[in-house]
Amino acid sequence: MRVLGLETSCDETAAAVVEDGRRALSDVVSTQVDIHRRWGGVVPELASRNHVVQVLPVVDEALRRAGCTLEDLDLIAVTRGPGLLGALLVGVQLGKSLSAATGLPLVGVNHLEGHLLAARLLPTPPEPPFLALVVSGGHTSLYAVEAYGRYRRVGSTRDDAAGEAYDKVARLLGLPYPGGLPIDRLAQTGDPRAIRFPRALNVPGVYDWSFSGLKTAVRNHVRSHGVPEGQALADLCASFQEAVADSLSRKVVAAARELHHGDVVLCGGVAANSRLRALTLERAGERDIRVHLPPPALCTDNGAMIAVAGTEAWRRGERGDGQPVVDAGWTP
Ligand code: KG4
Ligand code: ZN
Repeated sequence: MRVLGLETSCDETAAAVVEDGRRALSDVVSTQVDIHRRWGGVVPELASRNHVVQVLPVVDEALRRAGCTLEDLDLIAVTRGPGLLGALLVGVQLGKSLSAATGLPLVGVNHLEGHLLAARLLPTPPEPPFLALVVSGGHTSLYAVEAYGRYRRVGSTRDDAAGEAYDKVARLLGLPYPGGLPIDRLAQTGDPRAIRFPRALNVPGVYDWSFSGLKTAVRNHVRSHGVPEGQALADLCASFQEAVADSLSRKVVAAARELHHGDVVLCGGVAANSRLRALTLERAGERDIRVHLPPPALCTDNGAMIAVAGTEAWRRGERGDGQPVVDAGWTP
C-alpha cells in the first residue's frame, strides 16, 4: 500500500510517499524558518501564503523521488489538525483536489498521532503498548500508546511547550529562531552546573511539566547579569538545557517504570535535542527500558509520519467520508 502524506500544519510544507506504513520512499520538507526568523516566531498569515506557493512543488518532488506518479498511489493522508487554521486549510484543500482529480481515497490525520507513529519508520519499531513523549514547539505531552488508534494522555505541560521555552529563551539571549538547535550547540561547550535553574512539579506520580517558571528564571538571570557572551553564554545554555532535559527524561522514565512500559519513544522537534536523548538513554538503560529515538528528520514535522498515521487509520477501518474537516485545536 502506497500512501502520500501531506503536512502543512505549521511552518513546514512537507510531502512523502510511504509503503505499507513502514518504508519511506521519499520524504520532502520545505521549511519556512528563514521567512519567519526575522519576526522571531511563526507568523500564521505568512505560513499559509508560503504553503500555497510550496505545496505543489513539494508534492511533485516527493513523487519524483519515490519514482512514482499519482496513479501508483493507494491513499492520500493529510494533517487536518491541530495546527494553524489557515496553514492546515492549504494541505486539506490540496488533498481534496488531488482526491477528486484521481479518485484516490483521502483520510484526515491528527498531527500528534503522526509524531507518535514516526517511530514506525525505524528499522525495529516498537509495538504497542509503548509510551511516547511528543515534545515540540507546540506540544509537550506524554501518551500511552495502548494500540494504534488508542492513545491515553498520561501527562502534559501546564503552560509552555518545551520547544516554546527554547524559542523564548533563545530570543532573550539574542539567538536566532528557532532556538532549539543554537542553544543545543552552545550548550556543548558549557557547564550544565553553572546555574541551578528550577525543575517544576518535581513530585512523584505527576507526569506533568511546567516551563514558564524556568523561562522566568532565565529572564531574571539576564536582567541581573546582562545578556551573557562567550563562556558565560555557553554555561547559561547548558544550564537551561540541563533543566529541560532533566525534567523531561526523569518523568518519562518514571512513568515507564510506574505504568509498566518497556518501550519509550521520543518524538517531536525537541526530541532532536542531544542532552534529552543522552539523559533519557542513560536513565532508561539503568532500568532496562528501551528507548526509541527517530533520527532528527523524523522528529521534526514531516510528511512521512502523516503517511504512516494515515496508513494505520485506513488499516483499522477509519475511512471518514473522504472530506476531512480542518480542526485547528484537535487533540487525540
Ligand atoms: O516538531 P517541530 O518541528 O514543530 C512543531 O510541531 O512545533 O518542533 C519545532 C521545535 C522548535 O521549538 C525548536 O526550537 C525545537 O523543536 N528544536 C529543538 C532542537 N531542534 C529543534 N529543541 C531543542 N534541541 C534541539 N536540538
Ligand atoms: Zn509537529
